[in-house]
Amino acid sequence: MDDQKEYKEFTEEIFRLTSIPLHLYRENQVRRRVTLWMSFLGIKTFGEYLSYLKSNPKALEEFKKKFTINVSEFFRNPELFEELQKYIPELSKKTDVLRIYSAGCSVGAEAYTVAIILNEYFKGIKYHIWGLDIDDEALEKAKIGIYTKDFFKSAKAQLLEKYFKKFPDEKYQVNDDIKQNTTFLRGDLILGEPPRLDFDIVLCRNVVIYFDEEAKEKVYANISKSLKLGGILFVGATERVFNARRFSLEYVSSFIYKKV
Ligand SMILES: C[S@@+](CC[C@H](N)C(=O)[O-])C[C@H]1O[C@@H](n2cnc3c(N)ncnc32)[C@H](O)[C@@H]1O
Repeated sequence: MDDQKEYKEFTEEIFRLTSIPLHLYRENQVRRRVTLWMSFLGIKTFGEYLSYLKSNPKALEEFKKKFTINVSEFFRNPELFEELQKYIPELSKKTDVLRIYSAGCSVGAEAYTVAIILNEYFKGIKYHIWGLDIDDEALEKAKIGIYTKDFFKSAKAQLLEKYFKKFPDEKYQVNDDIKQNTTFLRGDLILGEPPRLDFDIVLCRNVVIYFDEEAKEKVYANISKSLKLGGILFVGATERVFNARRFSLEYVSSFIYKKV
């Protein structure tokens, strides 16, 4: 079988087995990573690798884990969160409850960061945060809310003290009063539907970097649909939505877009 056909079959079968839409991810990135893992195992073709993964559930689980790169931290790029804060007073005036969506929430650090900001600097504003991810294991971690110290490299020590319970083994669990304002759900940003259609703020950061153009378009179309008119989308430090108008989004600043 030719290599391209084998690659296509590999990604489609992985989608069936794991629900990760690998066929919609950037091909050169997927190929680079997968062939590296194959070479460690001395496997030469995608077909051979697929048979290996199918007959070895543990290896398939590990493959899935490596592909849903869950790297995250609290207050990732803190200066961007400071910028986001400027929009909160105006947005909260127009609603009873500020509804926020962390799209590709991983283990929950991004969702809890926003919850902590609201608790700390915007007392009295009612809010709820929905986190969505394709990875069940990451979502379980988000619900439990226990993190190691390295998640807090960019967080202020006083916020860590105030909003987390410290365990003797240097782990920290987010307080229940923060947790109660969050809901974590499984979903696919490319192929699924957004959890609601009335969000005031959507954060989608460090997720679409793995997707090809078509997949990115689906994600931004879905996100735009999930936003209220006047709601804002917050993307990662180095990300841009090209031709944002196509998705009824207006460029506001380098990582903020408004639904129009
Ligand atoms: C690098 S993490 C980003 C976490 C967080 N947004 C941040 O910036 O700290 C990327 C997350 O996207 C999730 N993801 C990848 N593809 C997805 C998809 N199609 N639908 C939903 N989540 C997806 C992964 O499981 C992973 O948890």
